[in-house]
Amino acid sequence: MNLESNVERIYIDQEKLAARINELGEEITKFYSEEEEIVVIGVLNGSFCFMADLVRKIKQPVTIEFFGCSSYGHSTESSGNLKITKDLDHDIADKHVLIVEDIIDSGTTLSRMKIFLNKRNPKTIRIAALLDKPSRRKVDIHGDFTGFEIEDYFVVGYGLDFADKYRNLPYIGILKPEAYKSQI
Ligand code: IMP
Ligand code: MG
Repeated sequence: MNLESNVERIYIDQEKLAARINELGEEITKFYSEEEEIVVIGVLNGSFCFMADLVRKIKQPVTIEFFGCSSYGHSTESSGNLKITKDLDHDIADKHVLIVEDIIDSGTTLSRMKIFLNKRNPKTIRIAALLDKPSRRKVDIHGDFTGFEIEDYFVVGYGLDFADKYRNLPYIGILKPEAYKSQI
């Protein structure tokens, strides 16, 4: 199967992604002072492409961690309904934490993750999100560094999946309706 044959259209192409991530890297570099060390935490699995490109545009020293979680249930405030599938390897107490996420949709996952990680007493927690769908928000949370605000489309590629596939498309795309139905 050729993945691209299921793509209806390219929503954000590779050049736009690269240019915006360059800008985000500059914003982040300016925001944290020169001496500060940042613990960059990628949320599995969707953030892996964005994270790889973003950290190479940040000039401060960074350490890299991955965090795997999924949220369940409808409670919006509590971090209790967060299933941890991969915890951090190191302590983040007194560190500057930058969470890197592919997309903020309802905001539930990130808000619970933030509550959960805050209990470990980091110095700061900030969020870099490649995409943001503000129209879908159920919880009051926003990215401190956001790549693109998008409309309410289900997008794939550049890390984002549909049924665990399409993460390796080099751009952000929208699938043909039949591809969403068939779960290829
Ligand atoms: P939230 O808790 O509703 O904000 O869920 C965010 C998670 O849902 C993201 O980390 C993605 O894994 C997934 N997600 C939300 N929208 C999309 C989309 O358009 N394409 C692919 N994954 C999405
Ligand atoms: Mg995700």
